[in-house]
Amino acid sequence: MIDIKKIREDFPILKREVNGKPLVYFDNAATSQTPQQVIDVIVDYYSNYNANIHRGVHTLSQEATDVYEQARKKIQEHFNAAKSHEIIFTSGTTHSINLVANGFSAILKKGDEIIVSALEHHSNIVPWQMLCERTGAILKVIPMNLDGELLMNQYHSLLSTKTKLVFTNHVSNALGTVNPIEEIIASAHKVGAAVLIDGAQAAPHIKADMQALNVDFYTVSGHKVCGPTGTGMLYGKEEWLNKLPPYQGGGEMIAEVTFEETTYAELPHKFEAGTPNICGGIAFGAALDYMNAIDFNAIAAYEHELLQYATQQLLAIEGLKIYGTAKNKTSVISFNIEGLHPYDIGSILDKLGIAVRTGHHCAQPIMDFFKIPGTVRASFSFYNTKEEIDSLVEAVKRAKAMLL
Ligand code: ALA
Repeated sequence: MIDIKKIREDFPILKREVNGKPLVYFDNAATSQTPQQVIDVIVDYYSNYNANIHRGVHTLSQEATDVYEQARKKIQEHFNAAKSHEIIFTSGTTHSINLVANGFSAILKKGDEIIVSALEHHSNIVPWQMLCERTGAILKVIPMNLDGELLMNQYHSLLSTKTKLVFTNHVSNALGTVNPIEEIIASAHKVGAAVLIDGAQAAPHIKADMQALNVDFYTVSGHKVCGPTGTGMLYGKEEWLNKLPPYQGGGEMIAEVTFEETTYAELPHKFEAGTPNICGGIAFGAALDYMNAIDFNAIAAYEHELLQYATQQLLAIEGLKIYGTAKNKTSVISFNIEGLHPYDIGSILDKLGIAVRTGHHCAQPIMDFFKIPGTVRASFSFYNTKEEIDSLVEAVKRAKAMLL
């Protein structure tokens, strides 16, 4: 059971006003807010042990290295990866996906097939298109239905021995659909294909288990789970990470360098060139600690309640249509009002202190599928309340009255 009053006390930003109104923050799918416990970890790092890691013999460097590596361990435990060196620190999901796409340039051949879902964010489309350009591989798409659910029969018929890679998100950022990744992974493995799951939108709601999923690659951004921006992870099975070439060259990722030849460091350092976001990685670990202390089952149950309540209230507004009506979805509601542009609705909501995202949500193919320019997207987190949803509903009614 969530103690919402106590939780909200942890988030200083929730006390502020926007345009003279109490902030209602419903843009959690874009980025989550940061609790004081994580802010304190950031301040402590810069106040007490800021130093470069894996390099110095001095005390500060050793302290920073220890805490950074403890954060990697926390992330490993949270996602139940078999080994801590299967967790690569990155700047976020986009970086993680590009790292894998770059690596597969050395593996794919002309005519190989890769499969992506119709529900993807641009970050899980464009790197694969670039990979196809480089290698001559062919991109195939799993279509979806009007509820925003993948057509799994069509997925099965796309799979063949030519399929080398399959990519989908765990949860759609634009619609909230939770994809059946267990089935997607198991079927891909039957034809010998590797699978990358973009977990950016799932991570705040679902604790994914790397070993149970038997997934090859899984990506997460720290800022979606109450951590800082510019942080994230790539989980990769050890055998795959050993097969892929390094992504970037530089310090930290080498074993030996001469002008004739360079040999690379062991995992995870092979993929971590340069000075990383040390404080950010540590804060990412602290953010997972914070969320785990609340408990992911309690978070999911509470957010489901918010989703149902908001869906019911919003659908009572005449002319309002929700996009993304999958049976299994997270607390994301994408909607439009007949005759109104999402941007205009979003601007009025902002004047009333309510933060939502408007537009195509970096998922233009989904908008094209529904033949719309974009939507208003309200995305709820465990620190939101039903009273805030009431404010949203009132504000949408007001926007409608003003604009129509
Ligand atoms: N991918 C983030 C979103 O959906 C930024 O808003």
